[in-house]
Amino acid sequence: MTNRRSFLAGAAAILAAPSLIGRAFAAESGRPLPIPPIMDVDGGSGNLLEAIDGSHSFFDGTTSPTLGFGQDYLGPVLRLKKGNIARINVANKSSDLVTAHWHGLLVPGSVDGGPQLAFGPGETWSPELEIDQPATTLWYHSHVHGKTAPQVYAGLAGMIHIDDGAETGLPQTYGVDDIPLIVQDRAFDRQGRLLYNPMGPTFMMGFRAGNIVVNGAIQPQHTVPAGLVRFRILNASNARVYNFRFEDDRAFHQIASDGGLLPAPAKMTSLILAPAERAEIVVDFSNGASVRLLSGPDNNSPMGGMIGSPKSVNQYGEFEIVQFDVDAATSAAVTQMPQNFPTAPKAYADAPVRKRQFTLQMHAGGMGGMMSGQASMAISGKSMDMNVINHELRIGETEIWEINAPEMGHPFHVHGTSFQVLTQNGAEVDFASTGLKDVVLVNGTAEILVKFTKPATPQTPYMYHCHILEHEDAGMMGQFTVS
Ligand code: C2O
Ligand code: CU
Ligand code: CU
Repeated sequence: MTNRRSFLAGAAAILAAPSLIGRAFAAESGRPLPIPPIMDVDGGSGNLLEAIDGSHSFFDGTTSPTLGFGQDYLGPVLRLKKGNIARINVANKSSDLVTAHWHGLLVPGSVDGGPQLAFGPGETWSPELEIDQPATTLWYHSHVHGKTAPQVYAGLAGMIHIDDGAETGLPQTYGVDDIPLIVQDRAFDRQGRLLYNPMGPTFMMGFRAGNIVVNGAIQPQHTVPAGLVRFRILNASNARVYNFRFEDDRAFHQIASDGGLLPAPAKMTSLILAPAERAEIVVDFSNGASVRLLSGPDNNSPMGGMIGSPKSVNQYGEFEIVQFDVDAATSAAVTQMPQNFPTAPKAYADAPVRKRQFTLQMHAGGMGGMMSGQASMAISGKSMDMNVINHELRIGETEIWEINAPEMGHPFHVHGTSFQVLTQNGAEVDFASTGLKDVVLVNGTAEILVKFTKPATPQTPYMYHCHILEHEDAGMMGQFTVS
């Protein structure tokens, strides 16, 4: 299960390539990990989330213009309870169109926050969300067509926890033994301001940058209790694929993927997470030792390994994500891993009624458009058009979708469903990849089993798209209705 060999191959390529993105500042690592505030979104009318123009200090003595939900960069963790109605007022106090898309939440298209639901400065959008899915980790972000990449890059994103009251035996004290890790890569200019300038290859491959930011702080530090600690990891990067590993190679357990708990914990020493994917892992700190979470380099490119990575800490090209120290005086609430999770969501039992194929294409506009940065990308020959419905589906029907990604790995995302990954390049997937998903990294061909339980009309359809945000904005997205 370890990917040491691909680390090595990638390291050689990275070391040989010039860095694409310069960095004027030495990375200011070691700040405390920010823990976003929790916002319990209940059925009351007072829940307010404001999209704002922010000003965030990534480096001492500097500030950067940013965007955020109720704070300068990113937003609170929204906690939603299964079986409840959540009411939220999203007020646009920023200077541009925004949306609030609830990524992974199973709600009708009318309240999904997709591109058709963009609203302008001064406006407020007040959806009512019926929470009808098992405990898991989701996220929210702006989804304005053509602007998702710059807006999320600037900070318009946050995490969602679904709580179903059934996660007994697992660490669940927020900020203590249940810790959000929102992982992003960012570039900065000489004034310490966020720099976003995708062009040529950095546009084609998706924008990747040389500083790792976790919950808004560069390569931060966090102190954990001496026992089992749960991390909810969200890859909220525009394009970077991470390959996480602890520096001492300790094993950990993945307990949940995008759509909820796995039937049992899956033991591993490394974990790949593509853009928009989430994984919950439980890590044992009872030996009291400090350890760094690292990631291997990202080789996901149609052009070879020319991708700017943070400064490597070893010969494998790995770099630091976050440093953990252990407070031996704090006893952990949980010291033993449950054997299995009886409340985990079940696999779909019904037979698929049809199969659809999707091919992710990076150059619908030809080489000229591609090099000018105006590339039009597409899915099965069609670039995203807000006025075109690409597919019509039926509520409750199970379908197989075959996703083809011939040129590079694309994280394929579908709104309105938790799906199951059946095969990757013809082979059945391993146990940890059998959990419910809403994003799957496809490099070659994957088959997924989808099912929709909520409606989406032509006015507010659901989307399917690549979650490399530059690809999505360039048109690698389509729309579908469910009725
Ligand atoms: Cu994370 Cu269509 O969205
Ligand atoms: Cu989504
Ligand atoms: Cu893509």
